[in-house]
Amino acid sequence: MKKAIITGVAGQDGSYLAEFLLNKGYLVFGVLRRSSLEFKSRIDHLYKGESKNVNFKPIYGDVTDALSINSIISKIKPDEIYNLAAQSHVRVSFDLPGYTAQTDAIGTLNILESIKSNGLNKTTRFYQASTSELYGKVQEIPQNENTPFYPRSPYAAAKLYAYWLTINYREAYGIFAVNGILFNHESPRRGNSFITKKVVESVVRIKKGKQDKLKIGNLDSRRDWGYAPEFVEVMWKMLQVDYPEDFVIATGEHHSVRELIQVSFRLVGIEIHWKGSGINEVGFDKKNDRILVEVDKYYFRPTEVDLLVGDSSKAKNILGWEPNTKFQNLIEIMIEDEIKKNNK
Ligand code: NAP
Ligand code: GDD
Repeated sequence: MKKAIITGVAGQDGSYLAEFLLNKGYLVFGVLRRSSLEFKSRIDHLYKGESKNVNFKPIYGDVTDALSINSIISKIKPDEIYNLAAQSHVRVSFDLPGYTAQTDAIGTLNILESIKSNGLNKTTRFYQASTSELYGKVQEIPQNENTPFYPRSPYAAAKLYAYWLTINYREAYGIFAVNGILFNHESPRRGNSFITKKVVESVVRIKKGKQDKLKIGNLDSRRDWGYAPEFVEVMWKMLQVDYPEDFVIATGEHHSVRELIQVSFRLVGIEIHWKGSGINEVGFDKKNDRILVEVDKYYFRPTEVDLLVGDSSKAKNILGWEPNTKFQNLIEIMIEDEIKKNNK
């Protein structure tokens, strides 16, 4: 039975990846941080109650704590490690740059160093959750594996360190270590401070009369939004090939935050029109002129990433991976789930 360690298992991707690997017959060790709440809604079904899976082993650890990470890796000697743990919110990284660096950069170092110092170079394969945020102020459109990076946040700068460290441990010590450069991917399990989840949650609450307005930041920024369950599958594929290589994973489509809001409202029967500009722009219900969307400068970032769109043809050619779910379908999935939750 293959053994995998997932850091960040309680996050959006970690929870889907755990389910995916369990279905493939893996023994999965999910690294959880100790927190004041025992409730971990995304993975509770894997280790509690009737639906629990005996092949899922929750285990306490923190990637910033080299001792705990080394103790986990030396004991389990896994076939695969998926490093998904991160302070993953770009806006928050401007408020918590030091913590973000400790987790996203030094956390990666702690894992790679533990693989090396335990002599697991030839037996443990390593996946690093790299990101399209590395492209930041983009140098070409679309972005591929050869596009130069230009990070625009403490988050992206920390991830840049982890990206190069992964390549360095591959070249210096022969570790099968790879970067998945994933573009934004979303799902009903997305944290509700990220834009897609924030928008669909607010839209459904507004429709139900439980919320007045949606307050939003930059309406014009554009992202390449994919569906998280399809993106975790390719993390696994990257570790099953003969040679370690880095891959861009994306849908190849880009849409603005404005379109995201319009499509989401349309799916609940509200047509949004816009008036004003900049900080004074508002979105209103065409039927009754009621203002439903307001710009709030709190949500702007000191430096923004205006446009991300990926070219994942290398993943298509080598891994045989292509996304099935694109923007419209993704928003439909998320709205439908939100409506169900609200009807409970
Ligand atoms: P997420 O939902 O924020 O999950 C991140 C997880 O990391 C959380 O469960 C968090 O635990 C855990 N974590 C944070 N600090 C930790 C620490 N010091 N030690 C151990 N665990 C820690 O993020 P996601 O969307 O699933 O993304 C997964 C990874 O892919 C992240 O590294 C992210 O940066 C990267 N990524 C994401 C996307 C995307 O669009 N989703 C795109 C590219 C790359 P708590 O629950 O205890 O806070
Ligand atoms: N979160 C948020 N909240 N974003 C807003 C808002 C708002 O109210 N209003 C506008 N935006 C804009 C942001 O400025 C950004 O340009 C875009 O919406 C997407 O923001 P997020 O959903 O927070 O995601 P992100 O692109 O910054 O980062 C996510 O994707 C990266 C991959 O490109 C995260 O998952 C990162 O961890 C990941 O690396």
